[in-house]
Amino acid sequence: MSVKHDIAPMKQHSAEALDVPRVRSDFPILAERVNGHALVYLDNAATSQKPVSVIDATSRYYRTQNANIHRGVHHLSEEATKAYEVARSKIRGWINASLTQELIFVRGTTEAINLVAATLGASLRPGDEIVISALEHHSNIVPWQLLCEQRQARLRVVPMNDRGELLLDDYEHLLQGGKVRIVALSHVSNALGTINPVKEMTALAHRAGADVLIDGAQAVPHMSVDVQDLDADFYAFSGHKMYGPTGVGILYGKKKILESLPPYQSGGDMIKSVTFEKTIFNDLPFRFEAGTPNIAGGIGLGAAVDYLAALDMDAVRDHEHALVARATEALEAVPGVRIIGTALQKAGVVSFVVENIHPHDIGTILDSDGVAIRTGHHCAQPTMLRFGIPATARASFALYNTFEEIDVLVRSVRHAIEVLG
Ligand code: ALA
Repeated sequence: MSVKHDIAPMKQHSAEALDVPRVRSDFPILAERVNGHALVYLDNAATSQKPVSVIDATSRYYRTQNANIHRGVHHLSEEATKAYEVARSKIRGWINASLTQELIFVRGTTEAINLVAATLGASLRPGDEIVISALEHHSNIVPWQLLCEQRQARLRVVPMNDRGELLLDDYEHLLQGGKVRIVALSHVSNALGTINPVKEMTALAHRAGADVLIDGAQAVPHMSVDVQDLDADFYAFSGHKMYGPTGVGILYGKKKILESLPPYQSGGDMIKSVTFEKTIFNDLPFRFEAGTPNIAGGIGLGAAVDYLAALDMDAVRDHEHALVARATEALEAVPGVRIIGTALQKAGVVSFVVENIHPHDIGTILDSDGVAIRTGHHCAQPTMLRFGIPATARASFALYNTFEEIDVLVRSVRHAIEVLG
């Protein structure tokens, strides 16, 4: 089977092609040299690099605005509060949420999912069911597993085929039991790159009476996302994978559902008033934002949204799609290489194994050639198990990657095979 024919052809569209050289000049780190070679950074699914505008926004906050937010009456506190809340509004517009109250700043996708598990999950009763999929990241497995243990609920898993695509008939079958309360799915698999049909899966879950959380960590850097169109009840993503800072992310939740949930963490900022007898909780979104947040991170995330909003996300998607198709085809032509995850719809990721060579050894040789990839189980051990392998080598792409970098990757894989094979 030739994998190159498995990637869906690009949709015809009117987007201008992405100006990749111009984009690259916005990312200072791309000029670094590693082990005597020009850096080829292909570990974007782990974390993306940052444009100068994000670095500057973060630094500007510390240089000129640093103060705590939502608390002070002094100038700096007001400036910092304004910058943080402006960032929230930008993010709202970017994912097309209808209200800023629906956007909760969190540490990242992992915290967002834990927040929903701890709050929405508190109403689960013994025998209720939670549905996840076979290609989830550990962060969208373990919180639900723990919740199931606490509430005597049952975790059900949508299986996938050999290409890494979810089996929708099995999904519908799981929903028919009438016990499913929560469905939690990744929009794009971090280990395989599969784009899941989350809009259709959300509609099916709603018809069965379940609430839906989508883990969008690997989707938002690669495509435009409209949370109202998807209609998921919750949508989670991290800043650092979409050219923003680490330690900050967003949980989007529908206002009506968020209002019905108990508090998550408690302390300052999430309250209106406190006496020893009773605490009145704050309004949304602050009631889910206890303690001093990552203020610089939130402002930096707003700058990342500005950066992406100034680009044509369809052009970004098409450029990255072409990178994935080219890398798939070129790697497949190398004797001994097998692509893991050949779904028709993919974004950002090419995972592969090389016969008789451990992915870590491949990664080490690639690093000596200046090529950064991730090797291992990618925090998706059940996915690895499904394919009968312990690990893969994973090249993951961003808007600044080039076809020339894919040539370097493939040359370096051939080099690794020569050395280790
Ligand atoms: N979840 C990140 C990855 O896939 C860290 O590499």
